Amino acid sequence: MPAIFQISDWPSAAVQEILAESEREGFCFVRRAAEEWTSGANRFSKEDEAFFGVFERDRLVALAGINRESEHRGRLRRFYVRREARRMGIGGQLLRHVLAFAARHYTEVVLRCDTGAADSFYCVQGFSRADSEGNITHWIQLRETPNQLPGPTSPSVTPPAWAGGAPFVAADH
Ligand SMILES: CC(C)(COP(=O)(O)OP(=O)(O)OC[C@H]1O[C@@H](n2cnc3c(N)ncnc32)[C@H](O)[C@@H]1OP(=O)(O)O)[C@@H](O)C(=O)NCCC(=O)NCCS
Repeated sequence: MPAIFQISDWPSAAVQEILAESEREGFCFVRRAAEEWTSGANRFSKEDEAFFGVFERDRLVALAGINRESEHRGRLRRFYVRREARRMGIGGQLLRHVLAFAARHYTEVVLRCDTGAADSFYCVQGFSRADSEGNITHWIQLRETPNQLPGPTSPSVTPPAWAGGAPFVAADH
């Protein structure tokens, strides 16, 4: 059963396989995520931002983050599921988890993708295509106003050995 964790420090060791696989597939955004985390350009750590990882047993199998784009708009980024873990519902599970987080802070979430598979995935998950804005290919309306109710607190958990000592926070929504 996959488990979703909110990641508060870049999991260098755990992410290595995903990094290599994504580059073999021609996706450069996991590498960019690593570089931006290291440089401090984007650690998904501003207010109402978050980065999540899905772990199956002791392996990281998927990643996704959400950045604040404007007052009521979040941007979904760095969404990647390992090849071996695809078409098993993990991407959908992770997406619903991120959207549940987003609904507490934003009224809509946007993203940009450039593959037919991702287009199908997001449309099945309830996103609409947005043809008019260059850096947005899909969007979803969450609600008229953000749900400002605070979520349950996220207990810190002991960093697993395979995480390279990175601290994780258990996701709870
Ligand atoms: C797109 C991606 C995130 C989907 O993840 P996933 O875990 O396979 O998704 P799910 O198993 O939850 O799929 C849910 C539904 O989405 C649709 N879907 C998913 N992948 C699809 C594909 N390759 N082609 C067509 N439809 C697809 C299907 O309707 C699927 O349901 P089904 O398997 O019962 O037919 C994954 O393939 C991936 O990481 N791809 C490479 C990176 C990428 O494109 N990321 C998005 C960048 S914005």
